[in-house]
Amino acid sequence: MEIKVVAGDIAKTKADAIIVPFFEGMERPEGDIAAIDKALDGAISQLISQGEIKGKLNEITFIHSLSKLPAARVVIAGLGKRQELSQDKVRGAIAEACRLLRQKRVNSIATIAQGAGIAGITLEGAVQAITEGALLGVYSFRRHITKEAEYGEIKQLLIVSSDESELPTLEQGYHKGKVMAEATNLARDMVNEPANHMTPSHMAETARRLAETYGLELNVLEREQMQELGMGALLGVAQGSRQPPKFIVLHYRGGDSSEIDVALVGKGITFDSGGISIKPSEKMDEMKGDMAGGAAVMAAISAIAQLKPKINVMAVIPATENLLGENALKPGDILTAMSGKTIEIISTDAEGRLILADALGYVRKFGAKFVIDVATLTGACRVALGEVCSGAFGNNQELIDRIITAGAEAGELIWQMPMYDQYKEQNKSDVADIKNTGGKYGGAITAAQFLSEFAGDTPWVHLDIAGTSMTDKEKNYLVKGATGVPVRTLVNLVLSLA
Ligand code: BES
Ligand code: MN
Ligand code: ZN
Repeated sequence: MEIKVVAGDIAKTKADAIIVPFFEGMERPEGDIAAIDKALDGAISQLISQGEIKGKLNEITFIHSLSKLPAARVVIAGLGKRQELSQDKVRGAIAEACRLLRQKRVNSIATIAQGAGIAGITLEGAVQAITEGALLGVYSFRRHITKEAEYGEIKQLLIVSSDESELPTLEQGYHKGKVMAEATNLARDMVNEPANHMTPSHMAETARRLAETYGLELNVLEREQMQELGMGALLGVAQGSRQPPKFIVLHYRGGDSSEIDVALVGKGITFDSGGISIKPSEKMDEMKGDMAGGAAVMAAISAIAQLKPKINVMAVIPATENLLGENALKPGDILTAMSGKTIEIISTDAEGRLILADALGYVRKFGAKFVIDVATLTGACRVALGEVCSGAFGNNQELIDRIITAGAEAGELIWQMPMYDQYKEQNKSDVADIKNTGGKYGGAITAAQFLSEFAGDTPWVHLDIAGTSMTDKEKNYLVKGATGVPVRTLVNLVLSLA
């Protein structure tokens, strides 16, 4: 879909369909809708008085203009109560409208900067939200489907403004929205890709492509280099698989100094069978998505490279499979992480924290000022927060607050979880410095406490996205499969730190 911002009059715009917003409680058409209503001989007014158009959030009313307008169809998109509007509601409403129009094989759409000036939404923010909603909402993963889709493809979306002087602002909102949405869709593609395609080597290949396209610095460490660095925890997980592990490092340098301001670390388990502590077979296919954290940080740094903030960022993705080959890690084994700490393996299925321990050890050597790790780490986080919020854990309240704000702006909800020292008890081992599972209760927290031992005193936040990285429902701008969470949060966070 090509999106363009243009100056013009929406009522006079030629398109297969135009989308106009309507708020709950509006008694008659106002502004642009009034002009459209007039051209339609009052059809909209009539539908309002009949109670068919109420303006409820995501209500869609479809009107055929029967040649009374240059546009063939008018879509009245309900946005709910005016004072309760948010960027996220705009994203969702546009996404739903676009999917409906795609179903009807509409090729070209026009709309206005809906939401601008309402409930604190800026013009730029409204256009960004429209762009994101449209591009995220029509996302599909059909790479491995040979049959053509039964729906069409929306070729063009025009965002029309009656004020030509506003165009540069619209242009800015469009650009940011496009970068954000494309990065999110890139992460979705990587997560949706099955594990026989998305191997650690394939992740490294994807990183190479991104590095070339966006001018990022790339360094991929192979097994030997991991051995030299003493990454015993990561290598322990990797030893059960034939696929060679890859430790992927990307650098974006936008700042003046040579210091690393932010390190983004993402779990890159391309398939998690559980290892010798094997998982039940039901829904094991979902574990192809256990590299969602890695995909998110890779996508985020490529978006950052396009938005060019004045800050230095590194993205680190430890990538391996967690399988049960003859050389596999066994419960009871003891590994030594890069930091020198020894880890008793209780469950080989608690592999995420092992590879992250070494990734955190690696970024600590660079002296990053802020570290954020993202991981599909625990089923317990999904149990605690459902599929609505990602869990945030950390050692620095300011950084946690910032990431929650960055998430709210993106419509990617985040809830802070407790990190009381008492939880550390559960990770104590009798035979090593720490063990890799903390027992039945508070599993998301004990996993985070484990990571905190490797983050040390660097300001650090851990995001557990086990509940939010995939969805089985189509809703708003989410479609079935990978969500792309928390790509836009990470980009917002880095922009806010620059
Ligand atoms: N990748 C899983 C966590 C997960 C579960 C992600 C469901 C997405 C959906 C992780 O490696 C894991 O297996 N965690 C274990 C930890 C346990 C053994 C302490 C879990 O949550 O059961
Ligand atoms: Mn696991
Ligand atoms: Zn896992």
